[in-house]
This record gives sequence, structure tokens and C-alpha cells, in this order.
Amino acid sequence: MSEHVVKMIEEEDVDKRIVEIAKKIDEDYKGEEVFLVCVLRGAAFFACELAKRITIPVTLDFMQVSSYGSGTRSTGEVKIVKDIDLSMRDKNVIIVEDIVDTGNTLSTLKGFFNQRKAKSVKICSLLDKPDRREVNVDIDYVGFSIPDKFVVGYGLDYDQKYRNLPYVGVVEFD
Ligand code: IMP
Ligand code: MG
Repeated sequence: MSEHVVKMIEEEDVDKRIVEIAKKIDEDYKGEEVFLVCVLRGAAFFACELAKRITIPVTLDFMQVSSYGSGTRSTGEVKIVKDIDLSMRDKNVIIVEDIVDTGNTLSTLKGFFNQRKAKSVKICSLLDKPDRREVNVDIDYVGFSIPDKFVVGYGLDYDQKYRNLPYVGVVEFD
């Protein structure tokens, strides 16, 4: 089966939205520091762009979880493949994700992080697919709420492809 990608959110609009989110984070944490935890690999592009636009002090670390096989459907099971290296104790943690779909990944991660004595834990996701939610999660910062379509680009992949697209697009199967 082959597929093609149809543009959904322009690069310019993604960039603008990231500037707005960074501004909001600057305001919300004024006089403090934030610790961005980027969930690899999908959130890497977003986390870097976001970090560049935040003006309060930022530390950045990466973790990797697996919740998906190679297709477009979640298995529901979330495993930590790579944990962060820095301590989050007494830090203002912001988990940076590419997309919230069923909510399984973030609710598991948040529960896990809550035991690590961070000062606060918030969630920031570039995209949100609310129609697909199975587990309730509070997302503190959202880039765009999108319909139930499988999207790629700006870090998101289909079978490891298309992460490098500078915009967000929908995968359509031929
Ligand atoms: P959740 O646990 O179902 O919320 O899934 C979250 C993870 O599934 C995201 O971090 C993505 O890696 C992946 N995912 C969910 N929807 C999409 C999509 O439309 N395109 C690419 N990856 C997706
Ligand atoms: Mg992800």
C-alpha cells in the first residue's frame, strides 16, 4: 500500500503558534525556571523550536516511550524505553509531546512523574486529537486541536517517515 501527504497546517502557522505558547510559558513561570522533558522522537522538532523561544531559564532532557507499533493504531501499552538523565526534583517540569491521541502515553507519564517530587508537572502538546481520547488528561498548553486523522510532519511519523516535513499533513492511503 502506498500513501501521500496532504498539507493540514502550514509551517508558518505552526511557528506562530509556538511563539504564542512560549510567551504563555514565559508569563506563567515568570521569575522561575522550567525543565522541558521532550518525548522522543515525535516531539523533538517541537521541543527545540519551543525551547528557542522561551526566554526564562530552560533545561531540557529527553525520554522515549513506546506505545505504538509500526502502524497507525495504539496498542495501549506504554513502556519507558529511555528515561531522562537529569533529576526533576523540585523542578517545574513541562512534558513536551507531539500529539495526544488516546491519552494513554501522557496519563501514564504524568502518573510516573508525580512520584518523582517535581515542584510541578504540566503538559504541552503540539497537537491534540480529542475525538480519540480513551483516558482523560489535562493538557496545559496545546498548539492545535485537530480532527481524527493520522498526521505526520513537524516530528510526527508514519512508519518513521515524514518527520522532516516542515508542516503538519494528513496521510492518505492510495
Ligand atoms: P496516545 O498514547 O494514544 O495518546 O498516543 C500518543 C502517541 O501516539 C503520540 O506521542 C504519537 O507518537 C503517536 N500518535 C498518535 N496519533 C498520531 C498521528 O496522527 N500521527 C503520528 N503519530 C501519532
Ligand atoms: Mg509521541
